[in-house]
Amino acid sequence: MNSADSLLQRADYTQKYNHSAGRHGWLRLTPAYSVKIVDELLSAFPGKPSHVFDPFCGTGTTALCAASLGFDADTVEINPFLVWLTETKTANYSQAVIQAAREVCKETIAITRKPDLIPVAEPPIYNIDRWWSKPARDFLCRLRAAIEQTTIAGSPERSLLLIAFCRTLITLSNAAFNHQSMSFRTNSQIDLGFPADMPDMFRAHVSAILSDAMKTYDALTRVIHGDARVLSQLDDKFDLVITSPPYANRMSYIRELRPYMYWLGYLTNGREAGELDWQAIGGTWGIATSRLAAWKPDKNTFIPKWLARTLDAIAHTNNTNGRLLANYIAKYAEDMWRHFTSLANVMCPGGKIHYIVGNSVFYGTLLPTERLYSDMLAEIGFERIAARPIRKRNSKKELLEFDVSGSWK
Ligand SMILES: C[S@@+](CC[C@H](N)C(=O)[O-])C[C@H]1O[C@@H](n2cnc3c(N)ncnc32)[C@H](O)[C@@H]1O
Repeated sequence: MNSADSLLQRADYTQKYNHSAGRHGWLRLTPAYSVKIVDELLSAFPGKPSHVFDPFCGTGTTALCAASLGFDADTVEINPFLVWLTETKTANYSQAVIQAAREVCKETIAITRKPDLIPVAEPPIYNIDRWWSKPARDFLCRLRAAIEQTTIAGSPERSLLLIAFCRTLITLSNAAFNHQSMSFRTNSQIDLGFPADMPDMFRAHVSAILSDAMKTYDALTRVIHGDARVLSQLDDKFDLVITSPPYANRMSYIRELRPYMYWLGYLTNGREAGELDWQAIGGTWGIATSRLAAWKPDKNTFIPKWLARTLDAIAHTNNTNGRLLANYIAKYAEDMWRHFTSLANVMCPGGKIHYIVGNSVFYGTLLPTERLYSDMLAEIGFERIAARPIRKRNSKKELLEFDVSGSWK
């Protein structure tokens, strides 16, 4: 995952709103963690993996790549919105469901035009008028209400329409995803979202989603709402793990995903958002940041000597946030340690792992995350550990992405 800049890129959408990038394009989180890398790693596995695992599912790249090649896969994700998204992306849809969804789409659009439709309330996103113009918000509230009327909760038709709804809401938004973190376009830069075009935009998104959904997979995919630090709930063992965990870059997935999560009802207030962020690895937003200040490390975590020195250096920089950042990194290390120790219990003997991860720099001090992973994995008993640089993350020459690989003993 390279960072917030690559999140949910609008590059998936053409001006005519009908671009279809296959199921991988339904909502992409991580171009860096690309389909190409995952496909290569899946194909490089000697023979055929019997069970693939991704403990940090995100938008489900590993699960989808595995399914496309006919490999069974389990994936774990802590964010309930991403669990729903990946389940919807990896499900098989019958012709009857696709046809029904097409019909329901027409009906939904007709209902948005009815004067007596009661729109849903605007979601309580802070500064919502920076996100969407008033006409766009009005349309989205009507569309959301119409989808509620035309589909049954939990039905595949509703899920498919809601994915299209997500695309429409982000296409209509002023958010720009090509920056280091999400930022906003000024109104004058927006060339999308004239009221008359909006139903057409939604129709085109449904059509693209449905044509992607026609592809079926001959493999079993299980998407588990869970915590990668506690994998004991899994009753399976895995011979191939391919994943891109959160980087130690303070990026909050909740923050980045909040437009979808609020509109779909996964979030109802800022406190909930901070709470979810605190549960996840790697993010700090809202209350999660204040909790970090009071956080105390667990003495049982394996901290390599070099990391202890790095933490000390960061804590004692001249910056007032030095101590908070040192706590952030120590907690990240502790979370990943808990994950790796838990992972060991679900590995087949000789099973292979690949962690696609980037390093980070804090106030000029490099945090070699790939070295942290390698040292932790060796301590737990993984063998043949290697950290292969795959690519540069941006113009800073020291920022790289690695494939940290190894085998279970
Ligand atoms: C770099 S992203 C994964 C990207 C993914 N490969 C994709 O295709 O989009 C990391 C993911 O880990 C999830 N995550 C964070 N903490 C977690 C935890 N404790 N257990 C499971 N998932 C977690 C985040 O919500 C995020 O979706």
